[in-house]
Amino acid sequence: MNLEAAMRLAVQQAEKVKGTTYPNPPVGAVILDRDGEVAGVGATEPPGGPHAEVVALRRAGERAAGGTAVVALEPCNHYGRTPPCVDALVAAGVSAVAYAVADPNPIAAGGAARLAEEGVAVTAGVLSDAVAGGPLREWLHKQRTGSPHVTWKFATSVDGRSAAADGSSQWITSEAARADVHRRRAVADAIVVGTGTVFVDDPALTARLPDGALADRQPLRVVVGEREISQEARVLNDDSRTMVIRTRDPHEVIKALSDRTDVLLEGGPTLAGAFLRAGVINRILAYVAPILLGGPITAVDDVGVLSIAHAQRWRFDQIDPIGPDVLLSLIPG
Ligand SMILES: NC(=O)c1ccc[n+]([C@@H]2O[C@H](COP(=O)([O-])OP(=O)(O)OC[C@H]3O[C@@H](n4cnc5c(N)ncnc54)[C@H](OP(=O)(O)O)[C@@H]3O)[C@@H](O)[C@H]2O)c1
Repeated sequence: MNLEAAMRLAVQQAEKVKGTTYPNPPVGAVILDRDGEVAGVGATEPPGGPHAEVVALRRAGERAAGGTAVVALEPCNHYGRTPPCVDALVAAGVSAVAYAVADPNPIAAGGAARLAEEGVAVTAGVLSDAVAGGPLREWLHKQRTGSPHVTWKFATSVDGRSAAADGSSQWITSEAARADVHRRRAVADAIVVGTGTVFVDDPALTARLPDGALADRQPLRVVVGEREISQEARVLNDDSRTMVIRTRDPHEVIKALSDRTDVLLEGGPTLAGAFLRAGVINRILAYVAPILLGGPITAVDDVGVLSIAHAQRWRFDQIDPIGPDVLLSLIPG
């Protein structure tokens, strides 16, 4: 198996543990033996548990000697809750290490240099865009900025409406698209809506499996706005924890969530507009259904753009069909 194919396998491993590793990054690792065959795969275990490299090395056993470790993130070089991964790689006798993205954390960085000093051949930057824009996206953002990564997710008709004229919006998109949303909720740290959505839709904002059962992991539910919501609102049920933030300032919301990494904004057009005007959205996920609704309820209110010359510019980083719908993923242009 070549390095890129092995890195794709490492990315799959990392995707599987997203949401379970904070404050550690969700990393995947693959050990190729000296013949280039997969000898072991692994992913970061929950905090306190071994990092991806160590899991993959254990699975590879003696086949790691003389082999290549392929890792999504530069192996760490410091004693945290676990010993440095570079020590484990050197002790296992790997002759080469390939990684996608350098560790931006100054405390953990330096792994590549240490490995090179130990005579290990190091290759950096393998599929770096796929890793930095994929499983490590939110964690890298948090490391660089100190703030959580915010994804605005919404469902829309093809004419850009997020509800029919009477306010009903359940359901614009297909079951397949909604199942995708539930998978994303299950790995997110928080889901944010405005009081308007609670009043109109009364959503539970939980992550559910296709059979309707609650997923093992539930994000924190966050309601933003000055009005008081009913104690009977489903968002206050016992299925997960809920934080009510009595503000209209998106920056205050981000501050209140500063211990989180991956935040999903699922509010209506008012809150989405406020977050976009404040410039605190890092990615947009638009689930577009092949239906027309027309009418006054657009997917987003005022985003502070008065003329086309000042349009907010984004670019598509992925476009995926989901059942009869399309998922557009956008990042700042
Ligand atoms: N298609 C979709 O993906 C989707 C998703 C969610 C909702 N919806 C639809 O959207 C509609 C509800 O829309 P909505 O806009 O009322 O919901 P919203 O954006 O979730 O909530 C709006 C409320 O948020 C509060 N708020 C917080 N920060 C604010 C700010 N900076 N500026 C103004 N208000 C702020 C205000 O409440 P206070 O007065 O309490 O401060 C405001 O009324 C429903 O029809 C629902 O079905 C659709």
